[in-house]
Amino acid sequence: MKKLTKKFLAFLLVLLALASWNIEVARGEVSEAKLAEINELWQGSAHAMVGANCSSCHQDSETKELVLRPTYESCRSCHEEETNTFLLGKHGIRLLEGETPLTPSLARLPMKASALSKSMTCNTCHDVHSVDTFTAAVDSCLSCHNDRHSLNYKNSKHAELVAKEGKLPRPSSESVTCATCHLPRYEAISIGAESKVQANHNNTYTLKPRDRMVKDVCMQCHGMEFSYNSIFDDELVEANFDRPPNQDLKTLEMVRTLKEKRSSQSSLGQNHPDITSQQAIWQLRLPYYIHQDRVRILKQALFQTGFRMENAFAKEQEKQS
Ligand code: HEC
Ligand code: HEC
Ligand code: HEC
Ligand code: HEC
Ligand code: HEC
Ligand code: HEC
Repeated sequence: MKKLTKKFLAFLLVLLALASWNIEVARGEVSEAKLAEINELWQGSAHAMVGANCSSCHQDSETKELVLRPTYESCRSCHEEETNTFLLGKHGIRLLEGETPLTPSLARLPMKASALSKSMTCNTCHDVHSVDTFTAAVDSCLSCHNDRHSLNYKNSKHAELVAKEGKLPRPSSESVTCATCHLPRYEAISIGAESKVQANHNNTYTLKPRDRMVKDVCMQCHGMEFSYNSIFDDELVEANFDRPPNQDLKTLEMVRTLKEKRSSQSSLGQNHPDITSQQAIWQLRLPYYIHQDRVRILKQALFQTGFRMENAFAKEQEKQS
């Protein structure tokens, strides 16, 4: 009974919102066909399942007025972490500073000519109505980025892994998308609530120092030596890891570079100026064990999301047939 009422309520809310939208349609803002299309995308989305409906985003919380094109602020009340991390990276920092959004025309890196005036915000990567996370992880990036590293991703074993999975609601824990490396998943722990695996939307977090990516990303799947040999091979990075590494960094050499990096870049180095090689190796291993544990938690979380989405798709198909 409770479930039914809830469903009915959600239905009513959609109707209500759609009725208000008709006013806009009458003003010639959006076509009926466009509205129907939006409604369909939303119906199949994670948002429909959790009851985040048209008015959750399109209604100003204070004035109660309808907003035709909401900004990223409309996402914030429910996605605090994603919004905060997004605003800290190169993609979002202009918004944080109250400037116009980042566009490819402002870039130093090569960008697709067709994307020069595209503004960066949440819905540049996610279709806001289907809230897609799979397209967001590779295809969306390639709609703007046009450098050799980005373009050559498609020739890597990592891309093969993703292609093999076919269309999923979310990239799985076994695949390596652009986002796996640049918007890495982490376990967000909020006080009083269950911890949750989320994507760190700060796209520059793993760039520097480079060994941050080794620790947070590569070592979830690869060994330490393989990871370091790959990531410190500039030519291989530029080619987006389309072959095995052919350099063989000597362990002690690695440790020495790390030691230098640490002492110049992090407080850890300053606190332990006399760090021995043995200790340095252990400091490398520790994160590895922690990450093994994270992989396990991540797999559980993804399984649950996948399961929820599959259920929703099955129900949708049942309705249609
Ligand atoms: C998760 C938040 C969210 C939900 C839920 C949502 N929208 Fe939107 N909608 C947006 C955002 C953000 C934009 C602005 C997109 C842009 O600027 O490109 C938008 C744009 C639109 C537009 C303008 C499209 C255009 O091409 O100009 C219409 C119409 C619309 N939404 C209708 C709806 C309807 C109807 C629903 C419910 C079935 C809905 N939206 C649910 C966030 C949402
Ligand atoms: C009323 C609360 C609410 C608002 C507002 C809202 N969301 Fe969500 N959204 C949720 C919940 C709940 C989920 C499901 C749990 C999760 O993945 O965090 C979700 C899931 C998502 C997902 C993941 C979908 C998936 O398949 O796993 C994306 C992407 C997303 N939202 C983007 C947005 C964007 C972009 C906006 C703003 C335009 C927005 N949301 C506004 C509540 C909201
Ligand atoms: C709307 C176009 C657009 C989309 C979509 C986009 N980016 Fe970007 N990205 C940019 C622009 C513009 C910059 C700034 C480049 C510069 O300053 O030269 C940037 C910067 C970056 C940087 C930092 C580069 C540096 O050296 O500081 C990374 C990493 C990055 N993007 C990765 C991604 C990934 C991964 C995706 C997809 C998940 C993505 N981008 C989607 C436009 C986009
Ligand atoms: C396996 C991990 C991995 C994958 C997958 C990956 N990248 Fe990168 N990316 C890196 C590393 C490592 C760097 C170099 C970081 C540095 O500057 O030291 C980098 C650098 C970049 C830069 C900055 C380039 C520059 O010259 O400043 C951009 C932009 C970028 N990647 C976009 C993408 C896009 C788009 C995709 C997917 C098509 C992608 N990356 C896939 C690891 C990855
Ligand atoms: C550069 C592209 C890009 C931008 C910009 C972006 N996202 Fe995402 N987002 C992704 C990708 C890719 C994933 C899925 C990552 C994965 O699972 O590997 C994701 C996942 C999510 C999720 C699912 C939960 C999670 O954290 O994994 C939510 C919610 C979300 N994004 C909300 C937002 C909001 C809100 C904004 C704006 C403040 C935003 N996103 C901007 C690419 C983007
Ligand atoms: C989710 C697991 C996963 C993550 C994370 C991951 N990889 Fe991979 N990587 C793989 C798999 C699986 C292969 C394919 C292995 C094969 O077919 O031999 C691969 C292949 C490679 C190859 C090419 C090997 C070849 O034979 O062509 C390189 C280089 C590589 N990864 C480097 C990295 C680096 C560097 C990182 C971190 C920035 C990283 N990978 C992150 C799983 C991962």
